[in-house]
Amino acid sequence: MAARSNSVYWMGKDSLVVSMTLFAENRRRLCERLRVNPNVPRKSVVVLQGGEQTQRYCTDTDNIFRQESFFHWTFGVTEAGCYGTIDVDTGKSIVFIPKLPESYATWMGKIHPPEHFKQKYALDEVHYTCNIADTLSKIQPAILLTLRGVNTDSGSTCREASFEGISQFQVNNVLLHPEIVECRLLKTDLELEVLRYTNRISSEAHKEVMRNVKPGKKEYEMESLFQHYCYSRGGMRHTSYTCICGSGINSAVLHYGHAGAPNDKTIEDGEMCLFDLGGEYYCYSSDITCSFPANGSFTTDQRAIYEAVLKSSRAVMAAIKPGVSWPDMHRLADRIHLEELTKIGILQGNVDEMVKVHLGAIFMPHGLGHLLGIDVHDVGGYPEGVERINLPGLKNLRTARLLQERMVLTIEPGIYFIDHVLDKALADPTQSCFIKNEVLQRFRGFGGVRIEDDIAVTSTGMELLTCVPRTVEEIEAFMADAVKASKDFDHLVSKKL
Ligand code: GLY
Ligand code: MN
Ligand code: MN
Repeated sequence: MAARSNSVYWMGKDSLVVSMTLFAENRRRLCERLRVNPNVPRKSVVVLQGGEQTQRYCTDTDNIFRQESFFHWTFGVTEAGCYGTIDVDTGKSIVFIPKLPESYATWMGKIHPPEHFKQKYALDEVHYTCNIADTLSKIQPAILLTLRGVNTDSGSTCREASFEGISQFQVNNVLLHPEIVECRLLKTDLELEVLRYTNRISSEAHKEVMRNVKPGKKEYEMESLFQHYCYSRGGMRHTSYTCICGSGINSAVLHYGHAGAPNDKTIEDGEMCLFDLGGEYYCYSSDITCSFPANGSFTTDQRAIYEAVLKSSRAVMAAIKPGVSWPDMHRLADRIHLEELTKIGILQGNVDEMVKVHLGAIFMPHGLGHLLGIDVHDVGGYPEGVERINLPGLKNLRTARLLQERMVLTIEPGIYFIDHVLDKALADPTQSCFIKNEVLQRFRGFGGVRIEDDIAVTSTGMELLTCVPRTVEEIEAFMADAVKASKDFDHLVSKKL
């Protein structure tokens, strides 16, 4: 179907204009894949069900709606309660919207007719959800392809489309999932443009946080500042995941920031901060971590650990290109950590022997990184035929694939000093023989360092999407400039008073 490119998503001001051709192109790619699948008969129709508006528990307070990811990828529709179909042979797209009661106009605003959504999302047709069965029966599809499959990160199964009257059709719920997942895996030029934007705004927001961080402030003030910047400057209402603003010991808690540990500690002088924050625009994610000293100056130990992680990050970046195995990149980062920790004096002995007892996973228990897209941990990590490697560290990789051009991933090595993990290693003679406990003691309570960047794999290497101060010198200079600018401003204000 021809795309009408004058339909766009735009949050105004300097925010990104996203053409609906992005979704027309996604649908075209999906149909192309399905048409060459010998198990998909002619006259097949894809049926997807969008997300539904939910409320807080038993109350009538709405949770802020965010579209279901597969539905977003296919149609770009931001409203709740919709369905969408695509005729695989012709590519014709129909979205079904709920017929709203008159009271909606009083409480929620104007009720738009189907024509409005047809134009807004550049669709071929828009009808009401109550007419799905009727509309589909006129097409007389051979089968309806519904979406059912397991998310390999959460283990949850996605919700398959269901509507009144579906029982009159032949339904296949296994063919679609692997095909649409493979489409989502490789990003188009239009999708890359949105991911560049989410990374640009989120990088700027991280810099805003670094400019304003100070011992004495609360971690949640930094969370708030990041969110404010992303929304006010970038039109990003959502973040891609719960904000992680760990300082001091909390920087070693991999997914700090949840309800039980809600970024509520006061940031102290001399501590490291590990801020893992990503804004989301039109459902496209970013996932960036900056680690830096709260007071703007690295101690000798902080610099040593930070530079060890930076070294592994940059070594991985230098090695990335199509065909490279992601687990090998994880192994590369681990090896560099072990070499550097030996130079620092925390470890001793032969690095090859350390690798054999998986010592790297003691300091980096998580995977090196993951696919990124509409979901922060994007789909496609473990298709049929790609097996999880059941070894310490590696088992936490969210993909074990070979890299391909147009994959977007995070590279997020880290070194953490996690007491219970270290205690376990010290109790295991095969690992403790490499650990110089008297030196390690100095790092108890240090927390951790993670450096997380988002990249797109290109035909010859990679494109770095994230742009924040990264070397020790860049971070110290950036934070010193911010302190100076703030002092100059205070001076100017006091002279005026
Ligand atoms: N922000 C979660 C992660 O880095 O995967
Ligand atoms: Mn992250
Ligand atoms: Mn990540």
